[in-house]
Amino acid sequence: LKNIAVLTSGGDAPGMNAAIRAVVRACSFYDLNCFGVYKGYEGLINNEMEPLNARSVRNIINKGGTFLKSARSKAFMTSEGRKKAHGNLIANQIDALIVIGGDGSFTGALKLSEEFDFPVIGIPGTIDNDINGTDYTIGYDTALNTVVEAIDKIRDTASSHNRLFLIEVMGRDAGDIALNAGIGAGAEEILIPEEDMGIDRLIDSLKKSKKTGKTSSIIVVAEGDKSGKNIFELGEHVEQHLDGYEVRVSVLGHIQRGGAPSCYDRVLASKLGVGAVEALLEGKRDIMIGIVHKDVTSIPLKQALEKRDHQHDRLIKVADITSV
Ligand code: F6P
Repeated sequence: LKNIAVLTSGGDAPGMNAAIRAVVRACSFYDLNCFGVYKGYEGLINNEMEPLNARSVRNIINKGGTFLKSARSKAFMTSEGRKKAHGNLIANQIDALIVIGGDGSFTGALKLSEEFDFPVIGIPGTIDNDINGTDYTIGYDTALNTVVEAIDKIRDTASSHNRLFLIEVMGRDAGDIALNAGIGAGAEEILIPEEDMGIDRLIDSLKKSKKTGKTSSIIVVAEGDKSGKNIFELGEHVEQHLDGYEVRVSVLGHIQRGGAPSCYDRVLASKLGVGAVEALLEGKRDIMIGIVHKDVTSIPLKQALEKRDHQHDRLIKVADITSV
């Protein structure tokens, strides 16, 4: 093992820079050469890579985004694209590829390993926290804090105007951001994809809390919510069925993906980055490095793509109890 390439792929996440830095510096510590690939798999196909050393990654631990840039590469989904990418890895004498990203990126990495017997390692980087085999993904903690800060601000205006706000948060098919940020920001209701509370129950519950004296309300809606209505339709429905509340909708969008990574994400990214390089040195391949109960662990990449078993039941109960 001599030459390692690293790339970031899919939606960017705060802490990706810290992970690249850790990979590069672990390579330097263990006397390996590290190559940075630009624009994810797109850069691999177009042969956009260059050597990185410990100094190339200075002053980036505190920066959001990814200096290697990222992409959701359509070309890499074709066997032709993957063939080209593999050709470039071989031409540059790369021995293994570290992919920092989410499930789409891991699917691509697995294909590369299966089709060309090329060693790959995944590091979970996505704000969604939707990856099996790790308690946390890089970027999730920062996104939670961004969301809570935004909701706190919206609460000020909600309470000044006696308004009910529906706030849409990201997370794709996972309710982790909605549920945790919802509890943290004291939301009255939280709608997540994993548990469809039903619109009627939502209206009943809002009516009840209004009767108890609530004059404004915050409803956090995960973007993958299964109510069957988009957030604007949901807002209209709520306004029609609740007397005396003005309703407003706020879609937080991509601010959730930006900003300086939290300390937690920086440390997590550092641990996983070093862990990935050490795993390669131990002869491991086609795995994802994750964090389970504070320990750096690894599972086969294939397993990382399986349905994740994050239990939400307890948190849902906590949200119910504390949001009355
Ligand atoms: O996976 C991260 C994420 O931000 C999801 O929460 C969201 O559904 C998606 O990416 C948005 O992707 P894009 O930025 O490509 O529109």
